[in-house]
Amino acid sequence: MVSNGTNGEKPHGQKLDASKFTESVVASMGEKTPERLREVITSLTRHLHAFILETNLNTKEFMAGLELLNWAGRMSDEKRNEGLLLSDILGLERQASEMDDLVDSVTSHQLSMDNVTTTSSAILGPFWRSDTPLREFGSTMTFDTPPDAEVAYIHGVVTDAVTGEPLKNALVDVWQCSTNGLYEQQDPNQREFNLRGKFTTNDQGQYALYGIRPVPYPVPSDGPAGKLLQLLDRHPFRPAHIHYMTSKEGYATLVTQIFDRKTKYLDNDSVFATKSDLVVDFVPLKGNPNATLDLECNIALSPLQS
Ligand code: BEZ
Ligand code: FE
Repeated sequence: MVSNGTNGEKPHGQKLDASKFTESVVASMGEKTPERLREVITSLTRHLHAFILETNLNTKEFMAGLELLNWAGRMSDEKRNEGLLLSDILGLERQASEMDDLVDSVTSHQLSMDNVTTTSSAILGPFWRSDTPLREFGSTMTFDTPPDAEVAYIHGVVTDAVTGEPLKNALVDVWQCSTNGLYEQQDPNQREFNLRGKFTTNDQGQYALYGIRPVPYPVPSDGPAGKLLQLLDRHPFRPAHIHYMTSKEGYATLVTQIFDRKTKYLDNDSVFATKSDLVVDFVPLKGNPNATLDLECNIALSPLQS
């Protein structure tokens, strides 16, 4: 039997003082470490060490966690970001995007003083594409529209959140999945760039396009994120939504999503992205041969601080 030393201390080579050990790991960073990286790694190290102590995480559990991350890595490529998906189901991307709002926008103090309402942000998710084509004002982004889709005329005005002035030449990048719940890059039966497009606002700050009424869909559940959802007794569904990324020089780029008021899962989005002020109404549209629904979605951008 291995005996303890005096005063309950383990003899040489045994248990370390936990907090001293944590600080020695933090102190191992060299002088050339960039300041922000030092700050982030210091905090990450302290939180992860504390997490292991708090949960009494044993080696088997630690290895199971690592295997989940390695599995995510093996499944990821330029079309699939399983790491982001894992972070989404744990609410991490939502948390980080709240930080962006605070850092990029005019200060929250100024926002509340001036009663300014910037459109809320929401997570980017893994299906945005940087190479989406620019499309004409008022043109369609739905090609080979499935028979069960309801086409919607989607339009609005992009404004300066402080002055309320319309912003011309703003770029409105929109993407959504088809009625089978798949984005075009997930689905060999959809043509490339189906249901996505970049649109420029006109002199009145307006944008317009044709899309479809979105449907709820499950996040991909054939990998570690799906496995974790199953273990946590959670469903994989997202409420019906359309993604937007709106940009204009001099303004904080706004990444957001709008949610159909009539959709299921508004109160239990598997990736925690919903916000009540992003819920919108699709209304019946008469007299337009190209669409049966109308959706007005205005966007207020926050000027960057000079
Ligand atoms: C999405 O809305 O496209 C999405 C967001 C997070 C995880 C998976 C999908
Ligand atoms: Fe989505």
